[in-house]
Amino acid sequence: MLLLGIETSCDETSVAVVENGTKVLSNVISSQIQIHEKTGGVVPEVAAREHVVQMIPVIELALKEANISLDQLNGIAVTQGPGLLSSLIIGVTAANTLAASLQKPLIPVNHIAGHIYANRLERDLGYHPQFPLVVLTVSGGHNQLILMRNEYEFELLGETLDDAAGEAFDKIARILGLSYPGGPQIAQLALQGDPKIISLPNIFLKKESLDFSFSGLKTAVMQLVEAEFVREGFLSDQFRANVAAAFQETVCEVLSNKLLLAAQKTGAQEIHLAGGVSANQRLRALIEEKVQLQFFLDWKGKKQFFSQKLKFYFPTDFRFCTDNAAMIAAAGYFQFHRFPDRFTSMQTVLPDPQLQLCISLLT
Ligand code: KG4
Ligand code: ZN
Repeated sequence: MLLLGIETSCDETSVAVVENGTKVLSNVISSQIQIHEKTGGVVPEVAAREHVVQMIPVIELALKEANISLDQLNGIAVTQGPGLLSSLIIGVTAANTLAASLQKPLIPVNHIAGHIYANRLERDLGYHPQFPLVVLTVSGGHNQLILMRNEYEFELLGETLDDAAGEAFDKIARILGLSYPGGPQIAQLALQGDPKIISLPNIFLKKESLDFSFSGLKTAVMQLVEAEFVREGFLSDQFRANVAAAFQETVCEVLSNKLLLAAQKTGAQEIHLAGGVSANQRLRALIEEKVQLQFFLDWKGKKQFFSQKLKFYFPTDFRFCTDNAAMIAAAGYFQFHRFPDRFTSMQTVLPDPQLQLCISLLT
């Protein structure tokens, strides 16, 4: 089955052609990073205007790269939300128009489900997920722990009470004078730093909680940087690198510990990492290490052992970590399989900036 995926939830105009939810025939991503670098973040109206300019050329390029024509498609999958309304409108309008004119089924996809199903892209054909599994979706806009007992069934275990981890990376990058998006830049700078020199607050929250909070950490880093500036009159490269390393370590520790706590609590057989921050090498390494050693640290920093041999998956390609349309086509495929009668060419998808993953797909 060939699906066209369309993703415009934030600042990437992306269109992909994916076969059977796994094989990526094309995945064109037109990034607006250079435009938003100037403002240090995404201005929604600017992003929307750029989507308008890019939408049709990106569709044409995705079809050309996949070497297929529109009539060969079996359906159109599009990001319905969550995301920026003005950006979502552009992708959804393109998808509604294509589905109606081609008489092909239209599949509205939750963006977070897209990140989850990015883990199926370009995976060995022999791979079949073992349920239950726990997914940590960690991105600029979302940060959730999700339990899947079955294909396309999502149960929310915990989420951020304030900022998402990617957003925290972006804000700390700004404080350290790095450009947008901050995650990759912090990761790069952290390589020159020592995470142990600067001590940052414990952000585990109360015992057993699977929620996250990063705003206290952000304030602590801000105060530390301000104090250093007042004391020294400038920020040395070594100080900035030490801050980046300590910040990254604190965030990755809490993300990895809670992912494993969630797996322990639910008896999961697999753990999956998804979203932009899943590109972070330190986060992957920490999770891998804890999976091998079969323990994680609890809210008091004490080792907690778990008995199951967990399998750990993250996207097979860095391009599948951050926003892309291949993941939307993949999620659309599995959604179509699960609920085949729900999707026709007659429906019109409305963008929903606040679309909830767990409610939207189980009802
Ligand atoms: O999934 P994504 O492209 O967009 C949202 O759905 O939000 O994620 C973008 C986020 C940004 O906050 C970016 O700083 C972060 O992912 N990110 C990273 C890395 N690469 C991207 N964070 C930490 N380390 C990275 N290597
Ligand atoms: Zn995303």
